[in-house]
Amino acid sequence: MERSLSMELVRVTEAAALASARWMGKGNKESADQAATEAMRDVFDTVPMKGTVVIGEGEMDEAPMLYIGERLGNGYGPRVDVAVDPLEGTNIVANGEWNALAVIAIADKGNLLHAPDMYMDKIAVGPEAVGKVDLDAPVIDNLRAVAEAKNKDIEDLVVAILRRDRHAEKISQIREAGARIKLMNDGDVAAAINTAFEDTGVDMLIGSGGAPEGVLAAVALKCLGGELQGKLLPDNDEELARCRKMGIQDVNRVLRMDDLVSGDDCIFAATGVTDGELLKGVRYKGHSGTTQSMVMRAKSGTVRFIDGKHSLKKKPDLVIR
Ligand code: FBP
Repeated sequence: MERSLSMELVRVTEAAALASARWMGKGNKESADQAATEAMRDVFDTVPMKGTVVIGEGEMDEAPMLYIGERLGNGYGPRVDVAVDPLEGTNIVANGEWNALAVIAIADKGNLLHAPDMYMDKIAVGPEAVGKVDLDAPVIDNLRAVAEAKNKDIEDLVVAILRRDRHAEKISQIREAGARIKLMNDGDVAAAINTAFEDTGVDMLIGSGGAPEGVLAAVALKCLGGELQGKLLPDNDEELARCRKMGIQDVNRVLRMDDLVSGDDCIFAATGVTDGELLKGVRYKGHSGTTQSMVMRAKSGTVRFIDGKHSLKKKPDLVIR
C-alpha cells in the first residue's frame, strides 16, 4: 500500500464527519448515518485505490451504497480490502453524546476478517498489556493481569463497557473486583482505541458489541501496538450459517489479532463527529467547519493527529473533484 493513502483516507472520514455532525442532537439517527454514508461514498471516488468493501453498510440488497462487495476508489492504485463505518455511534449523534466517529480501515486484499453483522464478545487493551489478557479467562484474572502489566492496583483501573442488560454480570464482577467503570451508551470502537492512550483514562474494554466494529477496532489497535480478542456470538442458525459462509468454522474460537487483520500492513483513519476523550467533534462557524482526525499505519507505526479547517463555501459538497 502506498503511504499517501493515509492522507487520502482522512479526507474521506473528514467529509463523513462534517456531513453527519449537522445532525447532532436532532434525534434522527437515520439521517445522521445517511449523511455520513453519502459524503463518504462521494469522496471515495477521488481516492487512488482499487478497493472492495468487506465491512460496510450491509449486503448489496439492503444498502444502496458502501455495501459489501462494492468497488471503491478511482480504479488506480493498490488492491485493498476496505472496512467502513461512516458513522460509528448513530445514537450518539442523535442524542449529542460522546465519541461518535467516522471510521475507515484498509488492508491488503484478503487481510481483513469479513466479520458478519452480529455481536462479538471483546476484550481490548493497549500496548502495555498485550499478551496478558485472555477472552476465555474470568474477568478477575484479566483485571489482575492488566493491573500488573500497567503497574497499577485493580482499584486504579478503568474498564469501559457498554451500558447493556446483557453486561449485568460482567459489570458486577468488575465492581466486586474493585475496578472503576466507564459505562458507555454506545461507541466501543472509540473505547478500544482509548485503551492505547494513557491520557484517556481507559485501561481496558470488555463486553460484547458489533463484530464489524471489532474488526475496525482491531485494525486501530494493530497500528497502535495494542490487542483485541473477539468471539463471534451468533444468535440463531442463520447467523451461524453466515459465520460459516464467511469462513469461520468454529465460532467458539477466540479470534486474535492475526485472525481479525492479518499481514503486517493496514491503515486506520477516524474523524471525531462528537467530542470524545481522544478527538474533538466537528465545530461549525459560518462557512467554516473544523475537524480532528487520527490516522495511523501498522507497517510504520506512525500515528498522526490532524486538525482540519474546511471552507464549506469553497467545498459545499465536501469534495473538489
Ligand atoms: P451504531 O453506530 O451502528 O449505532 O453502533 C453503535 C454501537 O454502540 C457500537 O459501538 C457497538 O459495537 C454496538 O453499537 C453495540 O450494539 P448494541 O447497541 O446492539 O448493543
